[in-house]
Amino acid sequence: MCRPRGLFTFSFGLPDIATAWWCVWNRACRQGKAVVECAHILQAMDTLPHTERPGYFGEFGGRYIPETLMPPLFEVQEAVEKILPSEEYRSELKQLLEDYCGRPTPVTPCRNLSKELGFHLYLKREDLLHTGAHKINNALGQALLAKKMGKAHIIAETGAGQHGVATATAAAEFGLRCTVFMGAKDVERQAPNVQRMKLLGAEVVPVQNGSCTLKDAINEALRYWISHQADTMYVFGTAAGPHPFPTLVRELQKVIGTEARAQMIARIGRLPDYVVACVGGGSNAIGMFHPFVADKEVRLIGVEAGGTGEPGCENSAAINLGTPGVLHGARMMILQTADGQICESSSISAGLDYPGVGPEHVHLHSIGRVHYGIAYDHEALQAFRRLSQAEGIIPALESSHALAWVFGHASEIAPGSHVLVNLSGRGDKDLAHALHHIHLD
Ligand SMILES: Cc1ncc(COP(=O)(O)O)c(C=O)c1O
Repeated sequence: MCRPRGLFTFSFGLPDIATAWWCVWNRACRQGKAVVECAHILQAMDTLPHTERPGYFGEFGGRYIPETLMPPLFEVQEAVEKILPSEEYRSELKQLLEDYCGRPTPVTPCRNLSKELGFHLYLKREDLLHTGAHKINNALGQALLAKKMGKAHIIAETGAGQHGVATATAAAEFGLRCTVFMGAKDVERQAPNVQRMKLLGAEVVPVQNGSCTLKDAINEALRYWISHQADTMYVFGTAAGPHPFPTLVRELQKVIGTEARAQMIARIGRLPDYVVACVGGGSNAIGMFHPFVADKEVRLIGVEAGGTGEPGCENSAAINLGTPGVLHGARMMILQTADGQICESSSISAGLDYPGVGPEHVHLHSIGRVHYGIAYDHEALQAFRRLSQAEGIIPALESSHALAWVFGHASEIAPGSHVLVNLSGRGDKDLAHALHHIHLD
């Protein structure tokens, strides 16, 4: 049974100003300052344009965290500023991505589906990477950073298990100790990945709090990090969380879009008309979109998980159906009740089952640069089957949402268009779960 959330939680859905006030008040009062002074600090903070604050994307992002988390986050930020751009780090990571992970991944034209659909459909094959998904780009990059920071232990949260497997893999490669926090519900529905993590030498901690899914795993990992800062680095799995994680994760994932952009130009002599990716916390999508953002002629489509389509909180479509608030240290769009309690998100794919979307996506949505659509569970299952049978490629249920959007909007896409979908992962991990819902003759 999943326990209700404790008092000490990072997923409070209070309006961000209240949360920031709490942080400032907490700090100032510990320093013996009067509460009235805290209010001034907050007021001053609020008059700063959001864009001038580090870690903000428009009015989203930031670092809304208890002060006990500031030192390790500053340490990560320093590493992002000093180690990440260094020639030594960049060439080591590039080599590892090529030799160990299999980059660059190809772009595959879907010959059969393109005939059926009347436009050209291509897949960016992140499913072909070592460990079977895009998550390794980020996990390897952060683990290398941790090693260079002198950390002996890395921790991670995981939903679908892909980020956990990727982090456990990177830990094995670099000789680091690894602990993965995973919601108890996800431990059940992603059993093969749990076995994989254990085989790779990681400790898997099932989290019994809240909805027993990804958001609770993140809470637990953050709690653990607070009390193990000296030797531990938190390898955050998606483009969310407190600054600098959304930026760090995007920088490590943008290799997807950089490669894809050049590959499409080489293949068709121009940029694609559409670039489509599924959105959980947002890492594969931001990695794919970022190098295309300045190309106004390219339509960028993020696809959120609509769950069963029932009314209420039973979905994971925070941009489409959520409201602004603070979750896991960042201001973004979240699924929350009217009084600010985080909803239990729901999706057939564990990797999209998260009640928030990272701040850069929310900004790109607010300025109208990216359109965020929805695909429901049954549509993702149909797409899962359709790609498997038409092209011989079994997609992850997460990526199936992106395909489902394309299939569902095929009549609106002009004949002859070029549509590029990020196939963020392979579907082997989802077989047992999907086959509960799909009847094979
Ligand atoms: C294959 C795959 N695609 C997509 C996602 C969603 O995560 P993100 O939005 O960070 O790419 C996950 C998450 O586990 C995943 O495993």
